[in-house]
Amino acid sequence: MKIFITKTEIKSYLSSLKEQNKSIGFVPTMGALHQGHLSLIKKAQQKNDLVVVSVFVNPTQFDKKEDLINYPKTIENDTKLLKSVSCDVLFLPSVEEIYDNNVTSERFDFDGLEHQMEGEFREGHFDGVGTIVKTLFEIITPNKAYFGEKDFQQLQIIKKMVAKHRLDVKVKGCPIFREEDGLAMSSRNTRLTEAHRNAAPFIYETLKKVRKKFGTNNALELTEWVKNQFKKQPLLDIEYFMIADEKTLKPTKYQESDKKYRAFIAVFAGNIRLIDNISLHKD
Ligand code: PAF
Repeated sequence: MKIFITKTEIKSYLSSLKEQNKSIGFVPTMGALHQGHLSLIKKAQQKNDLVVVSVFVNPTQFDKKEDLINYPKTIENDTKLLKSVSCDVLFLPSVEEIYDNNVTSERFDFDGLEHQMEGEFREGHFDGVGTIVKTLFEIITPNKAYFGEKDFQQLQIIKKMVAKHRLDVKVKGCPIFREEDGLAMSSRNTRLTEAHRNAAPFIYETLKKVRKKFGTNNALELTEWVKNQFKKQPLLDIEYFMIADEKTLKPTKYQESDKKYRAFIAVFAGNIRLIDNISLHKD
């Protein structure tokens, strides 16, 4: 596996491969890699000649300083994991390499996809995500880029950015990878206390019940029902639960038959914030 830390070096390496018409699959990450990331890499390997993974904890997408400081950094283990799945290229830039001395976000208009859920509760988050993903796309110039559906709002926002800025990259969403007990894989899971880790599968159990009830109960009733369920869980504090149109991410109260919906949730397990979502359409 080749490892690059500067833009100049990786650009020059990848441009020689592009000249040979090799297709590039790209998996951007913030490190602390787990099986969910590896599943994205496997997908990318199936469809591209080579796969580039970036590991960069992007400061501009964190609204809380302590969250950035406490974000797990496990680069030795990440490198081992990437080698074990035969990743071709690791891009590991420093903050200075990406931002020079100006660690700020570009402002984006994502046509309203950014205002609710993560956008409402994490100020500036999606400008930070847009800034780093656009910058990385410019450096790597991938043919395809892979993102997990756990961050479904992020996925839709990146698709919107690519369309609006006419970037020449195909954005691929990949299904959520879960632990055996249903908890969505996340780098943050390693920071849960044992008690919170044991309580956390309740999130997905509840989402599965919402999926079952959807249709018989409307979104308004289900939102109330979910909030009541979490009242019985002293270790989990619900931040938001929302049923929204998959395309526009606009919350709905009463569903319409020609639309596809998804349920979204954010929960605090102690001071660790966990998100999850589930598709509500049954095909
Ligand atoms: O989903 C993530 O890990 C990050 O938001 C991303 C896409 C790598 C941008 O920093």
